[in-house]
Amino acid sequence: MVYREHPHDDCPQPLLRLSGVSKQFSGVRALHDVGLRLFPGEVHALMGQNGAGKSTLIKVLTGVFPADGGEMLLGGQAIAPASPQDAQALGISTVYQEVNLCPNLSVAENIFAGRYPRKGPIGAWRIDWAGMNRQAEEWLAKLNIRIDVTRRLDSYAVAVQQMVAIARALSVSAKVLILDEPTSSLDEDEVARLFDVLRRLRGEGMAILFVTHFLEQVYAISDRITVLRNGELVGEYQAAMLGPTALITAMVGRELAASQGQAQARPVPAGAVPVLEMKGLGERGQLQPVDLSVHAGEVVGLGGLLGSGRTELARLLFGLSSADSGELRVDGQAVAFKTPADAVRHGLGLCPEERKADGIVAELSVRENIALALQARHGMGKFLSREQQAELAERYVKRLGIKTASIDTPIGLLSGGNQQKAMLARWLATEPRLLVLDEPTRGIDVAAKQEIMDEILALAEGGMAVVFISSEMSEVVRVSNRIAVLRDRRKVGELPAGSSEQAVYHLIAADA
Ligand SMILES: Nc1ncnc2c1ncn2[C@@H]1O[C@H](COP(=O)(O)OP(=O)(O)OP(=O)(O)O)[C@@H](O)[C@H]1O
Ligand SMILES: [Mg+2]
Repeated sequence: MVYREHPHDDCPQPLLRLSGVSKQFSGVRALHDVGLRLFPGEVHALMGQNGAGKSTLIKVLTGVFPADGGEMLLGGQAIAPASPQDAQALGISTVYQEVNLCPNLSVAENIFAGRYPRKGPIGAWRIDWAGMNRQAEEWLAKLNIRIDVTRRLDSYAVAVQQMVAIARALSVSAKVLILDEPTSSLDEDEVARLFDVLRRLRGEGMAILFVTHFLEQVYAISDRITVLRNGELVGEYQAAMLGPTALITAMVGRELAASQGQAQARPVPAGAVPVLEMKGLGERGQLQPVDLSVHAGEVVGLGGLLGSGRTELARLLFGLSSADSGELRVDGQAVAFKTPADAVRHGLGLCPEERKADGIVAELSVRENIALALQARHGMGKFLSREQQAELAERYVKRLGIKTASIDTPIGLLSGGNQQKAMLARWLATEPRLLVLDEPTRGIDVAAKQEIMDEILALAEGGMAVVFISSEMSEVVRVSNRIAVLRDRRKVGELPAGSSEQAVYHLIAADA
């Protein structure tokens, strides 16, 4: 195997070395002859497009499933962990892409699950609940999270749950720390705090492997980068020697065309009735009364930070929560959505933020998952035939470049980013008149992100009304014909197409 030069080449032994690792699933070659070297005291980014094999490599390495072949050495000794617990015992601590904590246990119980601190004499020990809660608070405090650790995990937002998973991984005293897209639902501050902790751990000699689709983060924290493409190793590089363009080329296998379209202002014809109009719509404790209108062919972006009320607004207008003030109009007619099905019948679609909780049905096939919302819209009276479902699924798999062995593959077996694309397909298939997209590009690779942005511009061009939510402000300013800015669960203003990211942040921060 050929490696690029780097400063560790005179260092005889990496802390962790994988070589010749292969993994085949029925019909899918997920990894082929892949190598990886992790040195003590480095942050190493593992990069690649959706479906490239990153999570599979991590799962092989941490004993979630066995490799078909290859060798793994830790400190020069061959290892073959048969489970994540085995890997942990060897000093490898992992946060998986799909956070697998127990929603009904407390935060502290989640952090210490399987290793509750004990007190009392041998033979008569008891679980040290108070000590456990205190230690959990201390670990979270390192990430600057101060919450009641005795409350159930699912009483907190996804971002907090993500931090709990990270705190759990940190609290295991490990030599190797692996983080698979830990920052996908975190805001800038939280990412900064996580990175502070990672830098400290690196300073203490830990080897850290990190997966992300945010290129800025790669350059902010990584020392070296390993790139996978289609299950194969492309190369190992020093981060300082590999610019973003070269990195993307390594990941995609070709140069990426410069990002094209940018939404323009769309003057609304006089007398045009908005597809959707919120008049003072609000919910106590969730969202202050908001006025907002969206016309056919218009993308309205919601600018705001985490917790500013973007998701709450989306939920309100889709009937996922109920307003206690104001009015919602569709085509000028007052409506009251009690359930999402009501909203769907009126031609609305919502691609939700949380694909795991509100979205995918893991056991069902890609075909069934894509057909789900359209079926719901038709009601029980008119079932889509298997052929109709297949035609629909094939069309969207092609259009969005969903990587799957077949449309009959259970969706749970797709890579994270490809599941996200299938969620988007589900809602596009209903051909809604108004589509609400809540973080549609979360977990999506750089190349596919660009394609999805272009797709949204094209949909609006075709007359669809779109409400677009993304924590990536660059995406919001690119696709929006108008940007509604939210702060502290209220709308604080609107900005026109072509506004800069700075302008949005400025309005968010204005007399806050
Ligand atoms: N348990 C499984 N059964 C069948 N196929 C699988 C399984 N796990 C992964 N795959 C397939 O292996 C390939 C690599 O998937 P993997 O999850 O490793 O991608 P990834 O690089 O982590 O992508 P993403 O950025 O989307 O998370 C994909 O084609 C995926 O569908
Ligand atoms: Mg993955």
